[in-house]
Amino acid sequence: RRLKNLLIVTVVGVGTFYSYRGYRRYKWYSEMSDSDKTIGTKPRIVVLGTGWGAVPLLKHLDTQKYEVICVSPRNYFLMTPLLPSVSVGTVETRTVIESIRSLVGPRVKFVEATCINVDPKAKTITCNNNGEQNVSRGDDVKTIVAPPSRESGASSRIIKDSARTRPQFDMKYDILVVAVGSENNTFNTPGVEEHAHFLKELLDARRIRSAISDAFESAMTPTQTIAERKRLLHFVVVGGGPTGVEFAAELADLVREDLQHYFPRLVSSDVKITLIEALDHVLSMMDKKISDYTERHFRRENIDVLMNTFVKEVKQREVIIQLKGSEERISIPCSVVVWATGIKARPLTNRIREIIGSTIQTNRMGLLTDRYLRVKGVEDGSIFALGDCATIAQPKLVDQIQLLFEEADTQHRGSLDLNQFQTLVEKKVTEFPQLEIFSKSIEKAFAEADKEKSGYVTLTALRAILEKADQKIRALPATAQVASQEGRYVAHLLNQVTDIQSTDFKQQNLKPFQYKHMGALAYVGGDSAVLDFTGSKPVFDLFNLQPLSGRSAAYLWKSFYFTEMFTGRTKTLLAFDWVRTHIFGRDISRY
Ligand code: FAD
Ligand code: NAI
Repeated sequence: RRLKNLLIVTVVGVGTFYSYRGYRRYKWYSEMSDSDKTIGTKPRIVVLGTGWGAVPLLKHLDTQKYEVICVSPRNYFLMTPLLPSVSVGTVETRTVIESIRSLVGPRVKFVEATCINVDPKAKTITCNNNGEQNVSRGDDVKTIVAPPSRESGASSRIIKDSARTRPQFDMKYDILVVAVGSENNTFNTPGVEEHAHFLKELLDARRIRSAISDAFESAMTPTQTIAERKRLLHFVVVGGGPTGVEFAAELADLVREDLQHYFPRLVSSDVKITLIEALDHVLSMMDKKISDYTERHFRRENIDVLMNTFVKEVKQREVIIQLKGSEERISIPCSVVVWATGIKARPLTNRIREIIGSTIQTNRMGLLTDRYLRVKGVEDGSIFALGDCATIAQPKLVDQIQLLFEEADTQHRGSLDLNQFQTLVEKKVTEFPQLEIFSKSIEKAFAEADKEKSGYVTLTALRAILEKADQKIRALPATAQVASQEGRYVAHLLNQVTDIQSTDFKQQNLKPFQYKHMGALAYVGGDSAVLDFTGSKPVFDLFNLQPLSGRSAAYLWKSFYFTEMFTGRTKTLLAFDWVRTHIFGRDISRY
């Protein structure tokens, strides 16, 4: 009888799944054929990118209303939060990618190409074709230098770029959405491009995995000296932001859980992991309690953390460091170096900024947009930007405060009490979202300005203090969380727009973008994670959630990223990978 019930459940489950799949495909095809009939009569939206910003946008755009074309050199979505796990083999490569075609279906046209230029006047983009079949086989082989195999210190491998003479093409748009992300920032540190690994793309993770295996196998060579063995097994991570921390944590897990069994003598005597950070603590964007916890936890995990230390150069077999306040440069012999010191704008982003002009596009980190995410300086409002390549222009905090102060100071006395002022700030939070983020600074500034403890402050005193806060005002963080909320927002905005020629969105009753911070998460190894809810008001503030760390945070981290996986296929693969790693360990073969 149990078997019968099980059979019924299985048949119903499989039946439901296939019916849903069939329905989804039917819907895609009918939308596509309806949509094909009207091509040429509908406005065309071109979306650049297939990342965290572009995919939610593509999924939600109304293809009955628009002809939607996506252009990107990558024909898949990459689950970046799991890249550190891929780099040590906890999770396999195919688990963290999903084909863009299976995500958005045929109703969105996808063109595999790299956009290299935008002409906002002619409303045209120029692209380089990426497809191998489209590459003409000339002799002008372009070479790029890849991180070397570090076992013997051999010189960098020269990879022949398969892209030789790439054909270019132009494409017209009515609306362009730029969601091209960012690239690694090396701060022009010598030797980084040639000798260090980045952790940004899938290929980076695969190269790191191979390099770790390479280092261990090379260290086993019988002719190796002790010093050389120690160098080969010294892994250096540069940058104590979330990327560096998560990679160091995963590496420590790999060493303790797997390599320890295969190389017991090497692990106990020679393996070393060093994390180098220029500031005085790691994870500086999170709560101080979390940084402290991570540093203590890393000590337990045998990860050396060098704080207040700058990496000045990366060489074939060493990194050169300099301590804050010292002139001396110290050499650290090592093999695999992972460079994670933050991000910068891509060439295309800089090209668009250049076309618009640096007097309007003043932020070097990305494209400045208004609060509807339209790029500033494009008069007809036809270009949107979101995700890592965009920054929402914020009015200066001092100017907002001055306006609020003047509004609250109905008696025109030139001074106010905090309660009066805070009531007004609360009322205006939806209008000026950064008031919420800076509400603590405002309170502090008020206390600081009120030197006499009279309960009143003058506008001049408050302004002087808030000038400092303004310098600290940062754009929204460059995270997947921001990019996906922005993507979804632009899709709903464009679906609602009644007149795309009109730039007056207020008149069309369209709301500006408002970011809802849900907290920040990072895996710190040893089955522990950290979770910071600072600034996540009002969602989590209701529960008065404090920063979380340890195993409970790790379960939350895992469940969060499990639910974030876009499809059933990747969810299943991820569950299998975690179970496989837990039972059989990671595969450490080099391929
Ligand atoms: P991306 O997701 O980078 O997408 C950019 C897209 O544009 C890509 O498809 C790319 O191929 C395409 N593209 C590039 N150039 C061109 C061009 N010229 N023309 C057309 N297309 C182009 N954030 C979190 O919130 N939580 C995390 O846990 C987290 N973990 C991370 C771990 C790692 C290792 C890394 C590197 C980042 C992590 N992030 C995390 C940050 C997050 O990945 C980024 O903020 C997010 O990917 C930004 O989304 P995006 O759409 O702007 O860019
Ligand atoms: P980051 O900018 O967050 O951190 C880089 C760190 O490198 C900084 O602490 C900086 O002080 C340090 N640094 C810079 N130059 C250095 C040098 N020469 N020597 C030593 N240290 C140096 O960069 P990261 O970690 O690459 O993250 C990029 C973006 O992706 C961030 O916006 C981050 O929030 C996001 N991200 C978020 C994750 C999460 O939420 N779990 C995980 C990974 C990335």
